[in-house]
Amino acid sequence: MYRFSDKWNLSWNDSGDKLTAISAACANTIITLSDEELSILECIERLGGATREVITEDLASELQPAATEKALNHLINEGVLKDTEYWFVNELPYTPMIYYQMLADSMKMDAYVSALRRVVKPGMTVLDAGTGLGVMGTIAAQLGAKKVWAVDNHPVIYQAQQLARENGVGDIVECLQGDLLDTSILDKIGKVDLILSEFVGEDIFDEGILPKTIKLRNTFFPQQDGLLLPYRLQAFWAPIECDLATNRLCNKLQTTESIGIKYGVNMKAVCDMLSTEGRRNDFGDRLYGPSFSEISVDDLRFLGESKVFFDCKFNELANATVLSQEEVKATHAGRLDGILIISYLTYPSGTT
Ligand SMILES: C[S@@+](CC[C@H](N)C(=O)[O-])C[C@H]1O[C@@H](n2cnc3c(N)ncnc32)[C@H](O)[C@@H]1O
Repeated sequence: MYRFSDKWNLSWNDSGDKLTAISAACANTIITLSDEELSILECIERLGGATREVITEDLASELQPAATEKALNHLINEGVLKDTEYWFVNELPYTPMIYYQMLADSMKMDAYVSALRRVVKPGMTVLDAGTGLGVMGTIAAQLGAKKVWAVDNHPVIYQAQQLARENGVGDIVECLQGDLLDTSILDKIGKVDLILSEFVGEDIFDEGILPKTIKLRNTFFPQQDGLLLPYRLQAFWAPIECDLATNRLCNKLQTTESIGIKYGVNMKAVCDMLSTEGRRNDFGDRLYGPSFSEISVDDLRFLGESKVFFDCKFNELANATVLSQEEVKATHAGRLDGILIISYLTYPSGTT
C-alpha cells in the first residue's frame, strides 16, 4: 500500500492554487503537482494509506483509470509516495495499541464471541462492519459462515485479511477498505443474514453507533428480516462523586500552574481547557474496560439513582437523535463531580 514518503514535504505554492513537493534534502528542488496527483494524495491521506486498486476505485468518479495510473506512477517514481506493507498510521484516531485494547477488553470480547457462537449458523452470510483487526469476522467464518464481508475504512483492514488467511478462512472472509456510509461499498456486498458491529467509543455515542447502525439496517434489512448484533442499546446516567478523578485533575491543574510560574506565563487558558477536557478524560477514558480501568466502581460514590435516558432496539429505531427530558437527581449529600454514563448493549443471545 502507498503512503507518503518522508523524502518530500508538501506545501501550497505562493498563490495557493497548486500543491508542491519540496525535497526534504534540498529546499530548492520543487515539483509542482498536477490536480490528478493532488486527488491521489488526498485519497491516501483520507484512507491513511491505500493500494493501487483502492486508489483507482476511490477516484473512479472523478478520474479515468489511465489518468490515475499515470499520476500515481509519477508520484511513485519521484519518491513522493512509498510502497509499504506496514499499516501503522499514528495520525489516525485508531493506533495499533488501541486495537490491542479493544481486543483485550475481555468483557466485550466474551459477550460478542458467545453471541456469535449462538447465532452464526452454517451457510450464513455475515457483514463484520468496522472489522478492526478482523477477529470477529474470522470467528464467524470458523463457525461456518459461508461468506463474511469485513469492512473498515482504516488500513487495519490489511491486518484483518492476514488474520483470516492465517486462520485458514481467507477465502471466506473478504476484506474491503472503505466507508460503510458510502453506498458504493455497500452495493458490492449484496444480501447478508447477520450484521455485527462495535461502534462504541470512549463515550457511547461518539463513534456514531446510531447513524451507522441505522444506515446498515436500512440498507440490508429494509424488511427488518435480519439479525443485528448488538440489537439493543440502553444508556443510563447517574450523578457521582469521585475523589480519585478529582484529585488527579487538581494535580494536573497545579502542575500546569507551576509550569506557568516557572516560565512566567499566565496559564489560565490552559487550565480552563484542562478543567473541561481533563474531567471528561478522567471519568471517561479511564473507565474504558475492566482490563484498563484506572478508576474502579469502588472509587465512585453515587449521589443518586441511575436513570435510563436512552433505550432502543436498533430494528425499531427511527432516527439517530438522543433526546431525554429525564432529570438526574442527586439525592445524597456530596460534591457533584460528574455524570456517569453507563451503557448496555444486548446481543441476540440475550447476553449484555
Ligand atoms: C470500536 S472499533 C471496533 C473494531 C472491531 N470490530 C472490534 O470489535 O474490536 C470500530 C471500527 O470501525 C471502523 N469504522 C468506524 N466508522 C467506520 C466507517 N464509517 N466505515 C468503515 N469503518 C468504520 C473503525 O476504523 C474501527 O476499526
